[in-house]
Amino acid sequence: MKKMNLKLPAACLLALMGSSLVARAQTETKQRHDTRMEWWREAKFGMFVHWGIYAVPAGEYGGKTQPNSAEWIMNKARIPIAGYTKYAAQFNPTQFNAEAFVRQAREAGMRYLVITAKHHDGFSMFDSKASAYNIVQATPFKRDVLKELAAACAKEGLRFGFYYSQAQDWNHPGGMGNTWDQDMQRVSTDEYVRAKAIPEVRQLLTEYGPIGIFWWDTPRKMSRESLDGLYALRALQPGLITNDRLGEGYRGDHETFERRIPAQGAVGQDWEVCMPISGSWGYKSSDTKFLSAQTLIRNLVDIASKGGNYLLNVSPTAQGILMPAAVERLQALGAWMKVNGAAIYGTTASPFPPLEWGRCTLNSRAEGGSLYLAVFEWPKEGQLVLPGLRSKVVEAHLLANGRNVPITTEAGRTTLALPTQAPDAVASVIEVKFSGPLDVAPAWPEQQGDGSLTLNVADAEIRDVPGAKPTKLKAAGGAVWVAEWVQPETSLGWKFRATKSGTYAVSAIVYGGGTGKLRVELGASSSVGEVKVEDTTVVDKVVQHTVSLGKIKVEGSAVQTLRLIPEQAGWQTVTLQQVELKPEP
Ligand code: GLC
Repeated sequence: MKKMNLKLPAACLLALMGSSLVARAQTETKQRHDTRMEWWREAKFGMFVHWGIYAVPAGEYGGKTQPNSAEWIMNKARIPIAGYTKYAAQFNPTQFNAEAFVRQAREAGMRYLVITAKHHDGFSMFDSKASAYNIVQATPFKRDVLKELAAACAKEGLRFGFYYSQAQDWNHPGGMGNTWDQDMQRVSTDEYVRAKAIPEVRQLLTEYGPIGIFWWDTPRKMSRESLDGLYALRALQPGLITNDRLGEGYRGDHETFERRIPAQGAVGQDWEVCMPISGSWGYKSSDTKFLSAQTLIRNLVDIASKGGNYLLNVSPTAQGILMPAAVERLQALGAWMKVNGAAIYGTTASPFPPLEWGRCTLNSRAEGGSLYLAVFEWPKEGQLVLPGLRSKVVEAHLLANGRNVPITTEAGRTTLALPTQAPDAVASVIEVKFSGPLDVAPAWPEQQGDGSLTLNVADAEIRDVPGAKPTKLKAAGGAVWVAEWVQPETSLGWKFRATKSGTYAVSAIVYGGGTGKLRVELGASSSVGEVKVEDTTVVDKVVQHTVSLGKIKVEGSAVQTLRLIPEQAGWQTVTLQQVELKPEP
């Protein structure tokens, strides 16, 4: 790293760095950005650690359990600085062992660790040169846990990073957020940033070895000079990855979702879900709401299937260890990742629309790749259908035991024949290897300009009666139709992206013949039509018939589901090929 010329006044130095940094930010090519993000996109799974002197009260104050997450206790209970700083003298986590702690993360399958260096309470969990209110100078423990964790992460092969609350600081007279210490002699936010935040961030980025991540939190309105000054510090660690929470206009390298998983991943942008393993970020003695191992494993799979990273938070106690419930969850995650890690590390988002039975992740290269099907609901009839996979499948097997999974592709639908017993109660992974570049039918059919829409049965979700003989598709001469649709309880559904509201005539294209009434349902709108077509097929000359199924209303523009449901009375079969919506003239 270039030796900093420290003789220049700090402001001038920062301005220089700021300009060179902004220049770099503007000149960072996509290729260089992708190189910088590579390890993070490969890692997929990290440990978040909220640890501070708030672990001493652990959510209790004045004989009451305080609302909100434990690290907010000073704010929620409006504890004056004089009262809150007393916790520092009680903070002595003698059971803390950095190597054991980091090993827990590694064995859980986590590839990076982000810890609170300074949270909103203003207490520095490292030997800060800018503030004596820190773990080395203000506690009986006197050890710099961030230095110990940096060394342990280097030894265990985890990337290391810091969370830093850059605006809120309830201890410093220029920090934001403390509205209850009325007699504090206030100074400006710029003064706080100049005197504490910038020096601390610089120290964290120059004295703790290679830092992979800087995780800002709670952006607040700050002067441009303060924000640029903080932003400029990322130049101190060339490969540094930062989030989107520094402040207005500083996108950072990835979007953050907090406590929730988005229905669909952010498009064209890296993103991460951060979530506490229990109810509180910081250790809270009354917090027993630990997420189950099943929920945590399926969250990890769900997030990866949408293309995101999972930053799962743990809360060390005032003794410096994790609660048994947290340790158990981490071990369960590690056991699952040991068998199925290939389905997470280095994968990208599923190429399919949402799958009823589970999730899919993808590891795709030009010469071929793998789809990882994580099955949550193991199908009773032992069949799994992959909609729209057009690539050539080489083979498929269970990750749990390598057992081969027979695959058939017919009429654009890939069907996997599964063993009756799921190898994993939470999520069983099937690796489907394909050759050549991945080729999957577009996710959702869309209405055309005039609103018309064609729905092919090859893309339909066929909902059979559980346990009944599966309804099959047949293909010939480029056409695909539903054969043996003998069960009137079997319905067909299509997700499509509605783009043009209005009333549309619905027709069924029947490939051959059929007898039966079909009800069309789309949201609150429905119609019924009757198919009464003699099968006039002569040898290899199939006659197609267009049969009206009434009129339907499309409303709103979103992904909607159109269902086709046979009416029981008089149902025989309908060799359906397509459903068409045409705008009313
Ligand atoms: C929320 C909490 C904060 C925590 C953060 C983690 O902002 O208020 O305490 O550090 O989430 O994302």
